[in-house]
Amino acid sequence: MENQSLIAPSILSANFARLGEEINSVMHAGADWIHFDVMDNHYVPNLTIGPMVCKSLRDDGIKNFIDVHLMVEPVDEIAKSFANAGADLISFHPEATKHVARTIDLIKSLGCKVGIALNPATSVSVLDNIIQDIDLVLLMSVNPGFGGQKFIPSTLKKIQDVKAMIDLQDKLIYLEVDGGINLDTIASVSEAGANVFVAGSAIFGSPDYEETIQSFRQKIS
Ligand code: DX5
Ligand code: ZN
Repeated sequence: MENQSLIAPSILSANFARLGEEINSVMHAGADWIHFDVMDNHYVPNLTIGPMVCKSLRDDGIKNFIDVHLMVEPVDEIAKSFANAGADLISFHPEATKHVARTIDLIKSLGCKVGIALNPATSVSVLDNIIQDIDLVLLMSVNPGFGGQKFIPSTLKKIQDVKAMIDLQDKLIYLEVDGGINLDTIASVSEAGANVFVAGSAIFGSPDYEETIQSFRQKIS
């Protein structure tokens, strides 16, 4: 199983007035994926960006892997729009759709990888009957809705538990952690077994994206 660590800056903390430039800067700085947070002011109490922005980035020549994190309810129609807009991977929260397995199948049928996002209060047992069908588990280490929150330490045990579940599968399943990742928390998240690290404020709020991403890599090596 591939064991590469990936850094996925969350553009939630980017300067939206210069979004294309911000993405190019962070990719030149050594990022692996673009984490694209979609909030609907319904499933979470905040409102961000939708498929039109994703398509504009593609039309503008951005070719990097776009990791879409849907915090929307319901899921299916928006997932279709994001697949058409050029998303590579689409994660959704199981509470936000009526038929989790159907939504997984839908996203795969659209040609995208699929992830399941678990809130801090959601049990990992949700994964029991679907882990073999997905490409990524996204563990939220803050409650979804806002950047810049504090990492919830009980996530570490959940990371270990999900890592053990993934190790029983004979396919590559990414384990992504999202929320409060910074130079103080990333090492323990890596030790617990995560291999995709989302960071918004810690990267976009830093003066030098490259230096920050390099420091992240040193902490997880
Ligand atoms: C929160 C989002 C996160 C957020 C992370 O609902 O899913 O991706 O942007 O931001 P930081 O890294 O600042 O906690
Ligand atoms: Zn996110």
